[in-house]
Amino acid sequence: MTNATRKIFAHSTLLASVAGALLALTPVLSTPARASTGYYQQFGSRPGTTALINRFVGNVLADSRINFYFAHTNIPALKAALVNQVCNLEGGGCPFNMNMHTIHENMGVTQAAFNALAEDMIRALDEQQIPVAAQNNLLAKLAAMEPEIVTK
Ligand code: HEM
Repeated sequence: MTNATRKIFAHSTLLASVAGALLALTPVLSTPARASTGYYQQFGSRPGTTALINRFVGNVLADSRINFYFAHTNIPALKAALVNQVCNLEGGGCPFNMNMHTIHENMGVTQAAFNALAEDMIRALDEQQIPVAAQNNLLAKLAAMEPEIVTK
């Protein structure tokens, strides 16, 4: 995939309305030879995932569009939960059963805030040089959670 194609794909994940279409597109845009079981390894397993989440949360906390949401958040606990969640989503076998709707329902998360957070993740994925197919796999799964998180 060209870098330009990937950028178009990545940015299209910001639109919640196309989440379903993204899931349909993923097999076309991913490298067919790569089995989905290899994604966690492509994130660098536990150390790579921890580094990614550190970058991501750093980006979010530096992002004045959304950092106020996290003013009273226990950041180490948030990071630990996100590392487990990515491990779980990407085939690393970590138990994860937090309910995204229950956690976020009283926060008043807007569509714009969700999109800003997705951008911060895309930047972290680029900064950590995660392979494109693995990036797209995670972004599609995060985009699919949008209806559970956006309430406003
Ligand atoms: C797909 C996108 C998202 C995922 C996967 C996600 C995941 C999570 C998880 C796993 C937690 C629990 C952390 C813990 O219990 O310590 C959490 C908490 C939180 N999320 Fe999200 N989240 C997403 C989007 C958002 C957005 C868009 C916002 C607001 C801009 C947001 C704001 C928060 C806040 C403020 C907390 C901390 C709640 C607290 O302090 O107890 N999240 N999120």
